[in-house]
Amino acid sequence: MPTESEIKKMTVPDILARKKSGKKITALTAYDYLMAEMLDETGIDIILVGDSLGMVVSGYETTLPVTMEEMVYHTRIVSKGVKHALLVADMPFLSYQVSVEQAVANAGRFLKETAAQAVKVEGGRTFVPVVEKLVASGIPVMGHIGLLPQSIHKYGGYKLQGKDPRASNILKDDARRLADAGAFSLVLEKIPAELAREITAAVPVPTIGIGAGPHCDGQILVSHDMLGIYDKFKPRFVRRYAELGKEMRMAFKKYIDDIQSGNFPAEDESFS
Ligand code: KIV
Repeated sequence: MPTESEIKKMTVPDILARKKSGKKITALTAYDYLMAEMLDETGIDIILVGDSLGMVVSGYETTLPVTMEEMVYHTRIVSKGVKHALLVADMPFLSYQVSVEQAVANAGRFLKETAAQAVKVEGGRTFVPVVEKLVASGIPVMGHIGLLPQSIHKYGGYKLQGKDPRASNILKDDARRLADAGAFSLVLEKIPAELAREITAAVPVPTIGIGAGPHCDGQILVSHDMLGIYDKFKPRFVRRYAELGKEMRMAFKKYIDDIQSGNFPAEDESFS
């Protein structure tokens, strides 16, 4: 285990440099201190405080109800556990869509009030002015194109994006424009693997895929999905590395049974 002084903190230039070095970028989400600390100790490159917390932590149907207050709170508690990874905070719905001024004020809160080093913004060409202004203000931006969960009502479901030539050209163009605007990386969500390969080859910044196949410069998943804690449904692109949801239910059930049968607490769990 590296000592405190040996831990290297990941920076935005470190992530950008991966485009050249070819070393894949690893990223996962975290929403609380303990999960963030466990994740950080594994040497993950990026920890995203995703607005997916609305679904996996708060029990909302979509990410739309998530507020700036919730995001700032969760980013602050996550940052307590992060010593190594680049910490990125997700801009929630309506925190950057209304005006560029509001986007700067809200994004700035993450850097001022938490230890986030960058923000993530969903959307293509429409948000180029927002990305430019944030970057010019010293706020690094991770773009996010393809399936945009904040636009779920527009799609009518979590559907594959960029399937036909027109849609795939729009996404390619969006990727270039966001990179030109100064985004330091791009999340590509639920698009065909071949399109992700083309975008990855076309932009000078790293792409980080989720449901976008193996050709991206890195990969991200929602931690609760890959751990099997959030097991309501399993998208095809999620690989389950554990079945913690099942384990937790079994442990809760065993605890109840042990109390009812008098098996808990035992003598060595009691005081004389
Ligand atoms: O909110 C989120 O967790 C995301 C991902 C890219 C996983 O946006």
